[in-house]
Amino acid sequence: MLVTFDNWINGREIAALGTNAGAQSIPFQGWRHFKEAFAPELIAKAIRESAIPVGRCIDPFSGSGTTALACQFLGVHPTFVEVNPYLADLAEAKLSAYDVASITRDFSKLVRNANTVGKVTQAVFKNAPPTLIEPGQNGRWIFDKKVADRLASFRVALRSIKDPVNRRLFRVLLGGVVIEVSNVVISGKGRRYRRNWESQRKTVRDLDDAFCRAVETAVGDIVRHGTRRLMKYTALRGDCRSILKERMQKFDLAVFSPPYPNSFDYTDVYNVELWALGYLKSYRGNAELRASTLSSHVQIKRDFAPAPQGAPTLAATLRDLDAVRADLWDRSIPEMVGGYFADMAVVLNSLWRRLSADAQIWMVVGDSRYAGISIPVGKILAELTEEAGATVLNHEPFRSMRSSPQQGGQHSLAETLLVFGR
Ligand SMILES: C[S@@+](CC[C@H](N)C(=O)[O-])C[C@H]1O[C@@H](n2cnc3c(N)ncnc32)[C@H](O)[C@@H]1O
Repeated sequence: MLVTFDNWINGREIAALGTNAGAQSIPFQGWRHFKEAFAPELIAKAIRESAIPVGRCIDPFSGSGTTALACQFLGVHPTFVEVNPYLADLAEAKLSAYDVASITRDFSKLVRNANTVGKVTQAVFKNAPPTLIEPGQNGRWIFDKKVADRLASFRVALRSIKDPVNRRLFRVLLGGVVIEVSNVVISGKGRRYRRNWESQRKTVRDLDDAFCRAVETAVGDIVRHGTRRLMKYTALRGDCRSILKERMQKFDLAVFSPPYPNSFDYTDVYNVELWALGYLKSYRGNAELRASTLSSHVQIKRDFAPAPQGAPTLAATLRDLDAVRADLWDRSIPEMVGGYFADMAVVLNSLWRRLSADAQIWMVVGDSRYAGISIPVGKILAELTEEAGATVLNHEPFRSMRSSPQQGGQHSLAETLLVFGR
C-alpha cells in the first residue's frame, strides 16, 4: 500500500519548522541521530507554496537526507549533494527500494561470516589514528580491543554481501551504533569520553545487540513505509561548490540548510563513523574531506576565499570581528567568516543557474557569535542574494539556538527561514 507523507510523519504537530524539531522519532530518521536535521514539514510547505508545479527538487547540503526522503513521499524527484561519504550513504540507504526477504537472508549471512573470520583487526584498521583502538594513546581509546575486533569482523563480512544496496544498508546501520559501543559521546562540537568509561566497558554483546536492534528497526520502517509515491532519487557525492557548476537538469525548487559559520565541522562530528566503517583510510583523506567542506570552521589551516562585496552588513561585521581579533579563540575566524559567505555566494549563484524560471530557494540558516560580535547570517545572505538580482520573498525567524561554548554558550542565536525567488 502506498504510504503518504502524512502517514510517515504520523500527523504530528510541531512548534517550529527549523532544525532539531524531534525528527528522530520519525521512521528512517532515527537510523542515525542527526541533531541538525530539519522538520520534513518544511519541504511539504515549500512544495505546497511553490509558484510553479514541483517535479524536481534539489538539496545541495543533504546531511541525513530529510529533503530527499520527504520528496519521495510527496511524489517529487529528489536530487541531493553531500560531501561526507558516511552521510551520503545514510541518505541513499533511506531512499533505496528493498526486498525485505533478501535483507533478512543477507543479515544472517553477514553475522555467520563475521563469526568465522579470523584475526583481521590490524589489517582493517591499518592507518587509523592510534586513539581509535585499545591501548590507544595516553591511556585513552575509543573502542575496546574486543569491540574493535568484532567491528573489524563485520567490516570483512560485509564484503561477502553481494547486493550493494543491502551492503550499504548494513554499513549505515552499523554506523548508527558505533558511538553507543564506544567510550566516547558526541557533545556540542566534538567528542568527549563517557563518564566512568574505564570501569563501565562496552562489550561484543552490546555491539551485537545494538546492531541487531538497528536492523530490526530499519526492517520495520522499510516494511511499513517503504512504498512511497516515488522511489527514484539522484545522489551526487562531493563538494557542491564544484558539483553545481556541472551541467545538469533544471530543478523546480531547492530546500536546504547549509552548515552555519559557527566552527562546527561535520568531518569531526562523524569522524568515529568515518574511520570505524572504512570511509577514511588515511590522515590525508581526512584532511581532503575537511578541505572539501564549506568554510564554516577553522579546524584545518586552509586558504579562505576573500569575502564577497555588496553586502553592507557583512562588511560591518568583518570590521567588528577584526577589531576584537585578539580576543578570538582562533585568529583566523574573520577570514573564515568572509570565506563562508564567499562559498555561499558561489553555491547560490550556481544554484540559480540550475533552477527553472520562477523556482524558489528555501533555506534555513543560523546566526553565530564570536567574542560578543553577532554574525547575522540570514541578513547577510539576504543582502548578497538581492545584490545578485534575486528577491527575498520571506525572511522569518524560527527559534533561538544556544551559541557554542566558544561563543559564550549562554546567549541565544536566531535561526531563520529565507525564501528567495527572482
Ligand atoms: C546542516 S547539515 C544539513 C542537514 C539536513 N538539512 C538534514 O535535514 O539532515 C549540512 C550538511 O552539509 C554538508 N556539507 C558541508 N560542506 C559541503 C559541501 N561543500 N558540499 C556538500 N555538502 C556539504 C555537511 O556534511 C552536512 O551534512
